Amino acid sequence: MSLLEKIQKDRLPKHVAIIMDGNGRWAKQKGNSRVYGHKNGVRAVREAVEAAGSAGVEFLTLYAFSTENWNRPKKEIEALMLLLVNSIHKEINELHNKGVRLKMIGNTAQLPEKVCEELMSAIEFTANNKGLTLTLALSYSGRWDLKNAAIKMARDINSGVLLEENIQESTFSKYLSTAYMPDPELMIRTSGEFRISNFLLYELAYSELYFLDKFWPDFRNQDFYQAIIDYQQRERRFGKISEQIQ
Ligand code: FPP
Repeated sequence: MSLLEKIQKDRLPKHVAIIMDGNGRWAKQKGNSRVYGHKNGVRAVREAVEAAGSAGVEFLTLYAFSTENWNRPKKEIEALMLLLVNSIHKEINELHNKGVRLKMIGNTAQLPEKVCEELMSAIEFTANNKGLTLTLALSYSGRWDLKNAAIKMARDINSGVLLEENIQESTFSKYLSTAYMPDPELMIRTSGEFRISNFLLYELAYSELYFLDKFWPDFRNQDFYQAIIDYQQRERRFGKISEQIQ
């Protein structure tokens, strides 16, 4: 029985989020430049997208570039941005044919014009697709999103659109850039690091976390399936006790 067949279709996570980590270390181990690692990371992105589609996951969110990544050497940032533009340009037709709807979360104002244009046109091109929703978190951080949500909420309160007494926990999520997606049930991080690194801070509250000791360029569809199988073996109690769940 293959790993894909072992996945229980009635207990699938709707949303899987991934922190793609370890491109630099993967390349260093091979005596190559960090950019070589990022280039090889693109194959792993493809594997993750295809695996999500095959498993029947509805939302896949990839942490591609954090707010903090702007502090990296200028050369690496430029190479990463170029890689992003080229990868989207190359893959968009195939993604479209597979019914993928591309979205992005993050501070677009910080992105180079070319990246922004390529991204916006790809997002528009795939906007009506009904398959997997693939979100790239680009120039994104959880705290950045929380700050913006607070600003928008304050504006709505000031203008009377939102009444303080009507604020619920669920109101907050409507003001985040992730409002169109359900919270991830599963978050995967590669490279053997056990951190959230400012990713989806609000949304990960009850997510199952899956860490694997592999650098991102070595991530394959089987790793994705294994993460889902692991998730399906866990008991999600949401603060209740075991007997209340069964
Ligand atoms: C983390 O490895 C990876 C990144 C910051 C960039 C992710 C980008 C890609 C996989 C390339 C293209 C993406 C798309 C969506 C087409 P790291 O550089 O932090 O590695 P390290 O922790 O070993 O230094």
